[in-house]
Amino acid sequence: MADASPKTVLVTGAGGRTGQIVYKKLKERTDQFIVRGLVRTPESKEKIGGADDVFVADVRDAASIVPAVQGIDALIILTSAVPKMKPGFDPTKGGRPEFYFEDGLYPEQVDWIGQKNQIDAAKAAGVKHIILVGSMGGTNPNHPLNSLGNGNILVWKRKAEQYLADSGVPYTIIRAGGLQDKDGGQRELLVGKDDELLQTETRTIPRADVAEACIQALQIEAAKFKAFDLASKPENLGTPTKDFGALFAQTSARF
Ligand SMILES: NC(=O)c1ccc[n+]([C@@H]2O[C@H](COP(=O)([O-])OP(=O)(O)OC[C@H]3O[C@@H](n4cnc5c(N)ncnc54)[C@H](OP(=O)(O)O)[C@@H]3O)[C@@H](O)[C@H]2O)c1
Repeated sequence: MADASPKTVLVTGAGGRTGQIVYKKLKERTDQFIVRGLVRTPESKEKIGGADDVFVADVRDAASIVPAVQGIDALIILTSAVPKMKPGFDPTKGGRPEFYFEDGLYPEQVDWIGQKNQIDAAKAAGVKHIILVGSMGGTNPNHPLNSLGNGNILVWKRKAEQYLADSGVPYTIIRAGGLQDKDGGQRELLVGKDDELLQTETRTIPRADVAEACIQALQIEAAKFKAFDLASKPENLGTPTKDFGALFAQTSARF
């Protein structure tokens, strides 16, 4: 059942591609939410409007997060290490581009330490719900994404997910399929577990749908203490998801 009182919600990675959508959607629902954002740089803050509710902090630095989490009811974690493409790749010549992580910004630092720092800070501040967006693929240590830039990104993300599940704080872990920059609300969403969806044709999802799922999870008790994979059917195949309570009720896996 939905809770009627406005919740104070912090979105981290609010300058990122999904984080921006979550921040904007929450801002549009002022009757339900008081929103804060956390971004890494002043440039990212400007990019999302530069409001006073946007905190500039680095999640690798535990102390820098503390001001942003004071008094929040819920935290949505949308930070991630971001692989960069090595220069010189020419798609006309075929082959695959190579990727790297900048020094200090490897998944171990951003996805493990950075997410652990956020969970610890939020827990210390008495947060009542943490929503973490992770990625499908984490059940397979040999997943190709782990070789990207030698970052083991899915391994470190999964370690942070486990830390959250063990934290004692009510949580929702959303392991998204391949993210697409397409309109939200147009597709039927599918929840799964243990990467089973990766064996099917439905293993992608628009960022806008992931963003909406994060926000719906804030309001729906059935989302708590759950970890699930999330993907979408192609547009025009199936019925666009409107009832997120029913969607979250389809799964009961705690991790
Ligand atoms: N790409 C996919 O297909 C895919 C699939 C499944 C799941 N996912 C996951 O879904 C989530 C959302 O993805 P996305 O593509 O929307 O994200 P994104 O655009 O890559 O955004 C990540 C954000 O994290 C921030 N960040 C990085 N290091 C930080 C630090 N040390 N302190 C504070 N903030 C930091 C970045 O800020 P700066 O811009 O300032 O660096 C950026 O805004 C990520 O966890 C991603 O791994 C992605």
